[in-house]
Amino acid sequence: MDAHPFDRITVDELRRGGSLKWTGQQEALGAWIAEMDFGTAPGVLEAAAQTIASGLVGYAPAYLVSSLQEATADWLDARFGWRLDPAQIRPLSNVGAAFDAAIMHFSPAHRPDAPVVLLTPAYMPFIDTPARFGRRSIQVPMLRTGIGWELDWAGLESALSGGALLVLVNPHNPIGKVYTRAELLRISRLVEHTGSRVFADEIHAPLVYGGYEHHPYAAISDTAAGHSITGISASKAFNIPGLKCAQLVLTNDADRTLWARVGIVPEHGAATPGLAGTAAAYDGGQAWLGKVLGYLEGNRDLLGGLVAEHLPRVRYLAPQGTYLAWLDVSELGLGPDPVRFFRQQAQLALTDGALCGQAGRGFVRLNFATPRPVLAGMLHRMGASIDGPDQFDEDDPEYSGASPSF
Ligand SMILES: Cc1ncc(COP(=O)(O)O)c(C=O)c1O
Repeated sequence: MDAHPFDRITVDELRRGGSLKWTGQQEALGAWIAEMDFGTAPGVLEAAAQTIASGLVGYAPAYLVSSLQEATADWLDARFGWRLDPAQIRPLSNVGAAFDAAIMHFSPAHRPDAPVVLLTPAYMPFIDTPARFGRRSIQVPMLRTGIGWELDWAGLESALSGGALLVLVNPHNPIGKVYTRAELLRISRLVEHTGSRVFADEIHAPLVYGGYEHHPYAAISDTAAGHSITGISASKAFNIPGLKCAQLVLTNDADRTLWARVGIVPEHGAATPGLAGTAAAYDGGQAWLGKVLGYLEGNRDLLGGLVAEHLPRVRYLAPQGTYLAWLDVSELGLGPDPVRFFRQQAQLALTDGALCGQAGRGFVRLNFATPRPVLAGMLHRMGASIDGPDQFDEDDPEYSGASPSF
């Protein structure tokens, strides 16, 4: 069978490309920050570059914002059956800024200093963000069953009691869970009952694998729409976080009225190349995304086999969405800092689960959005490093990740 074109991308090419993932940790193979190694959809870079070529480097003109709003509305309708008035979609620099806005402006009205509730393990920067705003956070660890991840419903109810801002990341980075409609409805009942609000971070929404379906939280009911605000972006699925454009989706009138007052400055955070590039991704990127998703799903399945082969004592549940794998390395006896171990012994850069909250200790996050030969090389390296550092030979092409032969 012919190799997939992505299989032929080499580590040297990736390093020469200069991305943060491939230059940020010296000689280590890059499996840490959430970037993909496959470029972006056709037309995206051209649209972004065109704004600069034509001198559109001032503040974003209204027609550019409108084209982003319309492209986003069409995308959400076509992909998820979520119909919105384009005016409900507001530009921002990034989803991190949407979370900041949620904390500052969209806490429960009766409790503006409400705690921020995080389902852990959580996306790393979200752990510290509430404290930056002088807000308390409560971590509710997810429960791992033999076949998947479940919410601790009693823990959630207690954390929300009195009113809180719940952060609902779906698909859930780093565990890759895609929440079912039934789970979302149950969450919405708890949130409503406790007078809480939801920040729905759906940045990974397009990255869902066969057998699972993404349901936008705010679209499941009028109740959910009334108490949530949503952050989305093309930046993960189309691999363009550097273009600086995300979308805040406002689904009730009170939030829209408030945002009309407080949103002008954060909306200026969206860059003109980002507005144009994002509109191009949403308008014309479906075919590319379909191919990338197919490749990623193959990587996910390959990874299951590689873990079984090279890391039999590591527990791993295949993610339902995202290109991030959450590996339980606690039984390997690597000490308190497994990321450092793999960095030193395998020259592999992973993300430390401990950064995702208390529940992440003993885990590492591995980004598998990389060419399959490179992925196989990463797992070879991990296996060799725990079998004994002496067995790891940096010059062996099998471990270099550069050979397209496996
Ligand atoms: C769940 C989640 N939210 C937010 C972000 C950050 O997105 P942005 O770069 O748009 O701030 C990421 C990045 O990986 C993420 O995984």
